[in-house]
Parts: sequence; C-alpha cells; structure tokens
Amino acid sequence: MNPLEITSTAPNAPFNHIDYFTKLYARPVILEIKQLSQVFTQNKVQRTILKQLNLSIHKRELVCIIGPSGCGKSTLSRIIAGLDGFSEGELLMDGQPIHGPSSERGMVFQGYTLFPWKTVKQNIMFGPLMQGLSHVMAESKAREWTHIVGLEKYENHYPHQLSGGMKQRVAIARALVNEPKILLMDEPFGALDPHTRQKMQRHLLDLWTSIELTIIFVTHDMDEAILLADRIIALKASPGQIADIIEVDLPRPRSPEVMYTPEFKALRARVDRLVYAQEEILEDALPHIPRMTPVSTRK
Ligand SMILES: Nc1ncnc2c1ncn2[C@@H]1O[C@H](COP(=O)(O)OP(=O)(O)OP(=O)(O)O)[C@@H](O)[C@H]1O
Ligand SMILES: [Mg+2]
Repeated sequence: MNPLEITSTAPNAPFNHIDYFTKLYARPVILEIKQLSQVFTQNKVQRTILKQLNLSIHKRELVCIIGPSGCGKSTLSRIIAGLDGFSEGELLMDGQPIHGPSSERGMVFQGYTLFPWKTVKQNIMFGPLMQGLSHVMAESKAREWTHIVGLEKYENHYPHQLSGGMKQRVAIARALVNEPKILLMDEPFGALDPHTRQKMQRHLLDLWTSIELTIIFVTHDMDEAILLADRIIALKASPGQIADIIEVDLPRPRSPEVMYTPEFKALRARVDRLVYAQEEILEDALPHIPRMTPVSTRK
C-alpha cells in the first residue's frame, strides 16, 4: 500500500463537539461580564451603547464577537482592555475587578499602531522593558518572538519597511511577549488582503494551540469568525445586547478547507441570518435617497 495513502486516510479520533464543549465549560472562567452597561453622553443626550451584557469566557477559549457596525464591539473591547470605564455592572478577570490596562490583557487593535521610530525588535522589547526586565532579557525575549512570528530577518527593520501582514505579526508578538492571559483583537486583519489574512488566521490558530491563551477576537468577517471561534457572540445594536451565542461545532484543528464543507456553510447561513436581521433593523435609520432619474435613461 502507498504510505502516503495510509497517512491521508489514517483516522483521527473523531471530533465530538458535546465532549469538546463539556470540557470547555468545565474550565475556570477567566473573564466574567455581569449586567454590564455603557452609556455615552453627547451634547447632553444620553445613549445606551451596551445594555446589561452577561457573558462568561473560559480559560483557553477562542471567542469571536460579531455584529453590525456601531453595535458596540469596539466599545466592549476597550472596556475589557481597561482603556475605558463603564457605566454599570461588573467586569472580573480571574474573579478580580478590572480597573485599568494590564499586561495580563494584550491588545492588537486595527488602529493600534507600532512605534514608527522603533525597529521590529525594539517594538517587541518595549513591554518587557516597561515591566522592568533587563535589556539583555528583553532583547532575548524579543528575539524569541520575532522568530515565532517568522520575522527574524526583519528584526532591525522599521515599521514603514514592512508589509501590512508583517506589521500585524509584530503587533501580535508585541502583545504576546508580555505573556498575557487574554489577547484582545479588534479587527486585527481587517486591512489585509485575503491571502495574507488567511495566512494570519492560520498563524493565529497555530499560536493559540501552542500557548496557554484566551482570545477575544472582534471581526466583521463571518467566515473568519466561524474558522477561528469556539463560540461566536453575535451582538445586536441599539442598544448593544447579545443576540445569540453560537457554538462552532467544527472539528479542530481547522484549516481554510473547512470552509467548503456543508457543516461550515450551514453555520455561515445561520450567522448571516442573525447579522442581516440586525442590519435590516438598522437600515430603518438610514436616510432615504430622493428619487432621481435612473442613470440608464439619462441622455
Ligand atoms: N467615546 C465615545 N463617546 C460617544 N459615543 C461613542 C464613543 N465611542 C463610541 N461611541 C458610539 O458608540 C457606538 C458603538 O461604537 P463602536 O465603535 O463600539 O461600534 P463597533 O461595533 O465597533 O462598530 P464597527 O463595526 O463599525 O467598528 C457608536 O454609535 C459610536 O458612535
Ligand atoms: Mg469597531
């Protein structure tokens, strides 16, 4: 028999999603959101952006947050990061209230740029140096991470000399070098071309399976959410509340080929229905375009 055939047909232990989620929910809760609300006041008018959210995220879970534009995904990310406070409720990490930013929560946000005047290595060293590590130790950690994200040849390059995908890898390394327990990512791959984006998704999944890490990942891309997540938290807008929580019962490890399977497509249809229903509600608030002469009939 052809040995390649043996490898390709050798049965993996079948994925049992009930078993997978039973084990996941048995892990300790790392982040707990209780009755959390966020109200912004603008021009003396109060707007409730997030309303009484409740969510428990378990250790080593990969959660994706989706929802229509403006529903409060970034607001929630910033609150969890400790960058913003909140109006009501409780936010606990390992049972302790979150009061501000901490190296326990790493951040990779789309607009969260690298220091342009520092090289790749210096950008990654920044966190460890801030934590009081010696220059030698910080440099050694930075080297390790430039290697993990495959940028060892670029360690002395400046951000402007890197592609978008490389910059995001530096941003991931810069967050993970501090050994956070939670990595918060807000549309981290939104500006990348589809090919680079797919490579970054694969890279992130590889990292997540290799280190002890809980990931909270905000995305507009439904396929990305299904490919990555254990659970997808679908938010609805005005005010932001949880519309549904979807357990992604696709086997792991996942590769992009999983997108061609009927199971993936069924999940995609479910997620689409959820989000489009929300967008239809939002569209009511859009201005109506006045009737104009159709372009095709203009002389
Ligand atoms: N600091 C602030 N002050 C007042 N309003 C704010 C503030 N930050 C956000 N908002 C409002 O809160 C709402 C939610 O914004 P947020 O950026 O969280 O949405 P989002 O879900 O991340 O949207 P997108 O998908 O477009 O990134 C928006 O209506 C926004 O205008
Ligand atoms: Mg946002």
